[in-house]
Amino acid sequence: MFPKVKGVADNFFDMPYWSGVIKKIDVTLQCYNFSQINVAILEHVSLFERGLGYQTDVVSKQMFIMQSKKEDVDAQKDDAICLRPEGTAGTMRAFLENQSNITLPKKVFFHGPMFRYERPQKGRMREFYQFNLEVIGGSSILYDAQFIKMLQTLFAQTLQMQNFVLKLNFLGESDDRKKFSQAFVSYLHPKASNLCNICQTRLSTNPLRILDCKSTSCQQLFSDAPKLCDFFSESTKQEWQQLQETLQELSVTFSIDDKLVRGLDYYNKTVFEFVSVDLGAQNTFCGGGRYDGLAEQLGSKTKIPGLGCAIGMERLVMILQSQKIDLSIKPLPLTCIIPLSVAQNKLALHLADFLISHGKAVEILLDDIKIKNKMKHANDLKATWAILIGDDEQKNNTVTIKNMMTGEQEVVTQKEAVLKV
Ligand code: HAM
Repeated sequence: MFPKVKGVADNFFDMPYWSGVIKKIDVTLQCYNFSQINVAILEHVSLFERGLGYQTDVVSKQMFIMQSKKEDVDAQKDDAICLRPEGTAGTMRAFLENQSNITLPKKVFFHGPMFRYERPQKGRMREFYQFNLEVIGGSSILYDAQFIKMLQTLFAQTLQMQNFVLKLNFLGESDDRKKFSQAFVSYLHPKASNLCNICQTRLSTNPLRILDCKSTSCQQLFSDAPKLCDFFSESTKQEWQQLQETLQELSVTFSIDDKLVRGLDYYNKTVFEFVSVDLGAQNTFCGGGRYDGLAEQLGSKTKIPGLGCAIGMERLVMILQSQKIDLSIKPLPLTCIIPLSVAQNKLALHLADFLISHGKAVEILLDDIKIKNKMKHANDLKATWAILIGDDEQKNNTVTIKNMMTGEQEVVTQKEAVLKV
């Protein structure tokens, strides 16, 4: 017996539910003119180092790095590749490779697995599934408003979800953040020895991320610290104001969290998270924001703004199921064909072919076991109909159809069977 790798999950029974959720999201996204794409799962490590930032936890601690081919590694070719830890850098890379054929702004989505070396716990996996939505090439802040409104409608109306909160913050431009970081570091310097070890490191590597620290003693230390919004330029202030007003006009409920900075370095301006009270410690089921500098960070000669989010599918499904929201794709009614002896097996195969070609869902029980056991099997499969074929039926070109709910039976011709099930 081989146990599964730590932090991964198989999905043996829940796929109808997952498919139902994905279908609902797909339909909504089509209405907003998103098109489905697919991007690679294997990427160069350097894509994430440049795109997400060397100092981010995802890049510095959580990458699954692998060698491509032993000969390449032996020849010391610089070809370190990894399993993607997130989808935005890869989407931008794919966009930059194909941009000559694409009209902007372009709205795209895809879903698939992501990989992060984390300490597994409820809602935190090493292999997990994300639904990624990206808007590439729209610079107006009103795109952010429409995007966030779309997500709120998706969660609250389409998926009927309750008990969630939208947290919103504005990170301004890189100049605003530089000025803030200087002031913040000067403020914290005298208190540095009281910060936790992680914050002490971040003081020199990534001061903004200190805001995100969950330790209450750290949070107390900077409760009176300068605020990022105090360093916004006039144009940043106006955009932040416009975003809030537009969201209010669109009836989006949000709470401003000036400590929300998110864990990836590509964000500027808008950042947001949807948080549910029905999850444990890992309570964010969707996070995103604007990333106007990412394209240039990845080598683009021109500025290509971007905006997007990822929904954590395991967490989303956990919330929806805990709220008993029924989204499963219903299976077709099943017909179970039961030959009464092996002499009718071939006829059963032909009949199954005929029914399936007419769009029916069919199972055939071909093994030579007692009829009583075959009927029990059909029951266990929750078949709606059983079609019994014995010597008489075979001789007369008929079948006996049994309604598994009521127990009623009737004999019909083999051709007519398709009209009955
Ligand atoms: P993220 O916040 O790292 O953002 O991940 C987005 C969501 O993926 C989280 O809110 C959570 O629901 C889920 N998630 C993350 N890590 C795990 C894990 N270890 N186990 C289970 N679920 C997890 C991003 O990945 C950005 N690329 C989002 C984005 C797209 N920003 C702009 N465009």
